[in-house]
Amino acid sequence: MAVADLHAFIDLLESRGELIRVSVEVDPRFEIAEIVDRISKRGGPALLFDRVRGGDLPVAVNLFGSAHRVALALGAEDVDEVAGRVADLLALAQMQPRGGRGVLSLLPQLSPLLHLAPHRTTGRVPVQQVVLRGDDADLRRLPHLTSWPGDAGPFITLPQVITADPDTGRRNVGIYRLQVHGPRELGLHWERHKGGAGHHARAQRLGAPIPVAVVLGGDPASIYAAAAPLPDGMDEYIFAGFLRKQPVEVCRAVSVDLDVPARAEIVIEGVVQPGETRREGPFGDHTGFYDAGGQYPVLQVTAITMRSDAIYPASVVGRPPMEEHWLIGHASERIFLPMLRMLFPEIVDVHAPPEGVATNLLFVSIRKRFPGQAFKVAYGLLGTGLLALTKVVVVVDDWVDVRRSEEVWWAALANMDPARDLVVGRGATSVLDHASESFSIAGKLLVDGTSKWPEETSRQPWPEPIRMDPATVDLVSRRWKEYGLGDDPGPTTSTKELGGPVDAGNAG
Ligand SMILES: Cc1cc2nc3c(=O)[nH]c(=O)nc-3n(C[C@H](O)[C@H](O)[C@H](O)COP(=O)(O)O)c2cc1C
Repeated sequence: MAVADLHAFIDLLESRGELIRVSVEVDPRFEIAEIVDRISKRGGPALLFDRVRGGDLPVAVNLFGSAHRVALALGAEDVDEVAGRVADLLALAQMQPRGGRGVLSLLPQLSPLLHLAPHRTTGRVPVQQVVLRGDDADLRRLPHLTSWPGDAGPFITLPQVITADPDTGRRNVGIYRLQVHGPRELGLHWERHKGGAGHHARAQRLGAPIPVAVVLGGDPASIYAAAAPLPDGMDEYIFAGFLRKQPVEVCRAVSVDLDVPARAEIVIEGVVQPGETRREGPFGDHTGFYDAGGQYPVLQVTAITMRSDAIYPASVVGRPPMEEHWLIGHASERIFLPMLRMLFPEIVDVHAPPEGVATNLLFVSIRKRFPGQAFKVAYGLLGTGLLALTKVVVVVDDWVDVRRSEEVWWAALANMDPARDLVVGRGATSVLDHASESFSIAGKLLVDGTSKWPEETSRQPWPEPIRMDPATVDLVSRRWKEYGLGDDPGPTTSTKELGGPVDAGNAG
């Protein structure tokens, strides 16, 4: 069942024991961030702060701070269920129409997809129960968080920022932090590689203002979709409709020419004038370091609309692991794996471990069929969407479990001769990469941690990793209790290895 909105998501999390209400008064300046930092490092629950100093609205945090909560947000119990639906959709795209009916033969499978575009509703909608315009549209009414002592001020941290391409009218929705510069001014931190920045750059060329809607809340699948690394031009709210199996309900904003989710908690509407920028940041970011910020566009607020019982959602970012790992990293690597496999059929699995903060480190396991294939995949990934920002790519063989960092490093370090198997390249990097020699362009490290083929090294034969035979593993598991050794710690030979042999023809 699709989760209708943030209120419904909070109720769902509470009923599953995934959310705790905090009823004592807390300070949105530092105190909430310190609480969330402690909770999220332990994989703790979502929190709803009922009484936030200086404001009337409750604040919800850490809503997406576990694999299970992200799955619940998408109407599933496990994100792999959603990944399975993406794989089915892609399989459909590759299906041959059958018989004389041609493409019509695919209609039964395609018809559920025809109704997923956002549905425009008219009349009184929840998010416009309260409408504030002019001086009444004052950002100080909202309980924005200041998370870390070095932050430049309060920030909005979990917004869906909606813009339309000035040339094509196509919508983009992205989560970009917004600095509260003043009662009616926000700094828009859309990084140069992102969709919103592309729209802004085109508006600048035309010398035209660009309307923006900043959405807080709405259905949780839409929040995930705004953070997801979708291919350019794919509409986030259509994707959210696919994820939640129900269209997103939208309505017209009251002061700008954009559609906004009708069941959102709060919408801040405004306009960015061409050429207007202001210093944004510093901000304690998901890298675990302060991002110095820079000159970013300014949103002049034209209206604020909200529900009469609005809840203010926020995300605290800081040293990993925090909520963002589950929302961006974990969920997206599962959901987009089928798409990656379509482009690179040899990919078995990918994992961006939390310590790599999404862009610094990517583990990839491949089923190797020819020499040089590890680099073929690594170069390819560095040319694929936002993966282009990855700093270090480590490629390993299919039997390595990429979700276990120690196993990846063990296999990669053992299989690698640094003089032969490392390639240092150059390319675009995240604007948050404070180590890059120049802003947003940096070195890349590609690591071939696969077993080597005769064409790749004269050191042959290449050894096989030590594995117990499956029959003995099974026997010991069955007899473990008899040995009187306490709980069975489980085999060290991973299930992946026991499940299938290393690709035929592989070294040795
Ligand atoms: C809590 C959170 C905060 C984020 N802050 C920013 C930000 O300030 N600037 C930015 O460009 N991306 C930020 N992101 C990442 C983008 O939302 C993400 O890259 C998304 O895919 C961008 O969408 P786009 O490609 O349509 O621009 C943030 C993500 C999350 C979950």
